[in-house]
Amino acid sequence: MTVRKPMMAGNWKMNHTHLEAIQVVQKLGFRLDAKDYERVDVVVCPPFTALRSVQTTIDGDRLQIQLGAQNCHWEMSGAYTGEISPLMLAKLTVKYVIVGHSERRQLFGETDEMVAKKLRAVLATGMAPILCVGETLEEREQGTTDAKVKGQIEAAFAGLPMDDAARCIVAYEPIWAIGTGRSAGPEDANNTIKVIRDHLRIGLGDEFADALRILYGGSVKPGNVAELMAMPEIDGGLVGAACLDPDDFGRIVQYSAG
Ligand code: PGA
Repeated sequence: MTVRKPMMAGNWKMNHTHLEAIQVVQKLGFRLDAKDYERVDVVVCPPFTALRSVQTTIDGDRLQIQLGAQNCHWEMSGAYTGEISPLMLAKLTVKYVIVGHSERRQLFGETDEMVAKKLRAVLATGMAPILCVGETLEEREQGTTDAKVKGQIEAAFAGLPMDDAARCIVAYEPIWAIGTGRSAGPEDANNTIKVIRDHLRIGLGDEFADALRILYGGSVKPGNVAELMAMPEIDGGLVGAACLDPDDFGRIVQYSAG
């Protein structure tokens, strides 16, 4: 069995100024030590305006927290007012970029096609995409969860060379569980993640599927992280609300200790 290193990625969304960001990352850094980083990849995804401050804090304090971004454009430069290019992020030592978060899809009109282009642009600059997929409550009630996530996965991975596919991370985030305090049950989340892994297994093979990290997202908190992480298919968490407080996020990273 391939061992997949767990990842806890904090998605700050539109929270924290660059000054608050420095404090949050320093507090998180004080809380974590070498043992934690050895066990878990710890990632923070601040807003664009805080990336530089967080990067210099991580560097200056020699923290092993890794930097992620929440979004980017698919072009490397050009006349795209208000957009941020993957090259700009890579230059700031950003390692991961969330693509296709449900808030981007639902509130900002991102289509599967746009998400696929972003995923490729992120890979082209040497960073790793965290591709988000997940169903709405309506889709879940209609029993179309599996079809929805398989479709999103296919659209993103279609035609991707194996080397690139192997650098991707997937996050399964049922939309009804995001920001609602209502997490998917561990078994439910585990089952859908298995559907995703097995679907990719068909096209890309066992070695790829067994090595792919698939995170769960949707109301992950200190109180439910251990039971989620006890599931064999769940390789980590994409954490929203509970990552804003460095103590809570620290407890999430240290889940097996608690
Ligand atoms: P939540 O958000 O933890 O606040 O539910 C998760 C996410 O949107 O990535």
